[in-house]
Amino acid sequence: PATSLSLVKPTGSPTLGNLLGALRPMAAAQDAADDPADCFYGVADLHALTVPHDPTELRLRSREVATLLLAVGLDRSTLFVQSRVPAHRELAYLLECVATTGELSRMIQFKEKGRPGSRASLYTYPVLMAADILLHRPVRVPVGDDQRQHVELARDLATRFNAAYGPVLVVPEMATPPAAARVMDLQDPTAKMGKSGTDARSGTAGVVHVLDGPDVVRRKIARAVTDGDTAPDAVRADRSTKPGVTNLLEVLVACGGSADGIATYGALKAAVTDAVVATLEPVQRRYAELTGDPAHVDAVYAAGEARCREVTAPVLAAVESALGLG
Ligand code: TYM
Repeated sequence: PATSLSLVKPTGSPTLGNLLGALRPMAAAQDAADDPADCFYGVADLHALTVPHDPTELRLRSREVATLLLAVGLDRSTLFVQSRVPAHRELAYLLECVATTGELSRMIQFKEKGRPGSRASLYTYPVLMAADILLHRPVRVPVGDDQRQHVELARDLATRFNAAYGPVLVVPEMATPPAAARVMDLQDPTAKMGKSGTDARSGTAGVVHVLDGPDVVRRKIARAVTDGDTAPDAVRADRSTKPGVTNLLEVLVACGGSADGIATYGALKAAVTDAVVATLEPVQRRYAELTGDPAHVDAVYAAGEARCREVTAPVLAAVESALGLG
């Protein structure tokens, strides 16, 4: 079967954006009736070291994301924590010898967040992500739209490596979901909904977390920014002139709801709330069960990490050999 790979960074509590943009499509690849993928999904803890961090907090967040990957139903996937599979770091250095400083300087994330005092790893971050991907030879990488430039870099590096040193790496395709590939902040619908709310100017009021209870979800959606349009057809999608309403409509559809017959923003928000609460409820229930059984979570990851070490060793060895190492 084709391989699917994706990772989630444990830098804050996972959001509705993570769920709709990535976690559910990751589960869909695993569960595809016609062609279930061989799935490798992980916690990108090394990526959390690219910005100032607190070790205790990182350990807690890593466990939260690890547990959540299971709670969304990824039990038939190979799950792992990135730092437990050293080949990720090893391949990253080798790919740094394929990437250029010019292309890393053009990465939007570094252009936006990079400062003279930034950690050097913030600059090389996209190369580590390319290593995450290429090490597993995936055919598909299910991610949200914000990862487009990073997946493009992984494709470029694979193509360049193969041209220079021989056909060792697979050039993967990026897969984004049809709706909600970019869930926007409810308070600032021109900004991406981010884990810590730091991508938005508004704090966390505009961010729905996967583990938010129904009352919190209701309050956040009730306060979502819309617009002053009072025309009979005000409830319609138009990204440029109605970003808030468009975002709510996308979330509604991605959560299995329908906007048919909805004429007011109040009714729209009520429908979105119901759909989001219904989407989160089974995940939260399973999450609560799993936090009561940490030994099970540990066992799943230990098995996943063992399999990752096994399947990635020959890929790393092939890359080293092609480069003339050893
Ligand atoms: P991260 O942890 O920021 O996000 C995890 C996944 O969630 C998606 N996502 C969103 N999708 C829709 N709307 C949003 N508002 C939203 N916010 C986040 C992201 O696109 C991502 O798929 N660099 C990656 C982690 C990573 C990775 C990898 C991903 C490391 N190595 C290898 C794929 C393959 C990141 O920071 O994702």
